[in-house]
Amino acid sequence: MRIEPVDPRDEHAFSEWFSVLRAAEEELRPGEPGCLLHEERAAALQALEEDADRHLVVLLARDDQGRPVGAARMSLPLRDNLHLCELELAVHPQARRRGAGRRLLADVERRAREQRRTTLLMYADEPPAQVGSSAGRAFAAALGYAWAQEEIPRDLDLPLDPERAAELEGACAPYALDYTIRAWRDGWPEELLDDRAELMRRMSTDVPLGSIDIREEKWDRERFRRHEQRNLAMDRELFCAGAVHRPTGRLVAATDMVVPRSVPERAYQNDTIVLPEHRGHRLGTLVKIAALRCLVQCSPGTRYISTWNAEENAAMIAINDALGSRVVGCCPAFQKVLAQ
Ligand SMILES: CC(C)(COP(=O)(O)OP(=O)(O)OC[C@H]1O[C@@H](n2cnc3c(N)ncnc32)[C@H](O)[C@@H]1OP(=O)(O)O)[C@@H](O)C(=O)NCCC(=O)NCCS
Repeated sequence: MRIEPVDPRDEHAFSEWFSVLRAAEEELRPGEPGCLLHEERAAALQALEEDADRHLVVLLARDDQGRPVGAARMSLPLRDNLHLCELELAVHPQARRRGAGRRLLADVERRAREQRRTTLLMYADEPPAQVGSSAGRAFAAALGYAWAQEEIPRDLDLPLDPERAAELEGACAPYALDYTIRAWRDGWPEELLDDRAELMRRMSTDVPLGSIDIREEKWDRERFRRHEQRNLAMDRELFCAGAVHRPTGRLVAATDMVVPRSVPERAYQNDTIVLPEHRGHRLGTLVKIAALRCLVQCSPGTRYISTWNAEENAAMIAINDALGSRVVGCCPAFQKVLAQ
């Protein structure tokens, strides 16, 4: 087996790398819309730009006949969290249990050390029938990665039941009299960008992290715009909603959702945050309903939206449950601190 870095500008090599990732995903969740080649490539190309916020290392493992058998992607933050390497790693279902995963991970760890990254973090997706027993979980344990947190994936069917949404909104509105709730398509308006970036900084450590060693992220309006630009380059539509505190004019709650234009059936929920000093006003529920309404109106082909929450994030889970979402497996995080 040989392992080679892939330049995302090399369309053929990148699609070979993607084919392994996709085959592993299809095996876990057959028939579900998953990651898309053009999305992954656009994200990898953006990481080559001079002002990129993270460096990506894309690795392809080939067997002795030259067939792609393993794929890994190391994501190295460049503005903060310089100790961290987030990792995706998959072996083609037809090439399993022959040591490919072990060798690929050893190569990743060597490269992480070279880049002075000391903490490696990876997630294993477990569909409902494999909760607690996936190959990914066994692999992580065998290779010295410690369980760090359980993320729970949920899907919410769309459109929302109008009666349920109206009832929820009616129950929440009296708590939020000092706030204006607004939704937007295609990204955040200029005048709220500083506040939106500040919410990202707060979000990076406000969410429950279990024992994951993620430290405070540095955000400003330029970084937030690049984050939106990446999603647009991935050919995704953006939907967002926020709560502005009327007495101060500040944005204090936000939610972001994206829809892949070419496969709009499934949308993704990105961050939702309410500043701690404004919690208790039902703003999380209200911004989510506002963004979902906008999304459904503009993207009628979207049938469901997927979200991931730390299992101990009771407040967010209560909101998702009230909206009617259902658990679709689990997604444990595994972490290893490399010896120096
Ligand atoms: C997890 C994955 C990468 C393993 O790849 P692989 O090439 O089959 O793994 P290896 O052959 O190198 O296995 C290394 C060790 O991991 C453990 N392991 C791997 N797969 C396992 C399984 N299905 N059941 C139990 N243990 C397993 C074993 O201890 C194995 O050593 P052994 O074969 O000598 O007993 C592969 O199953 C995969 O792509 N899964 C989907 C994506 C994923 O979960 N990625 C990892 C996220 S943490």
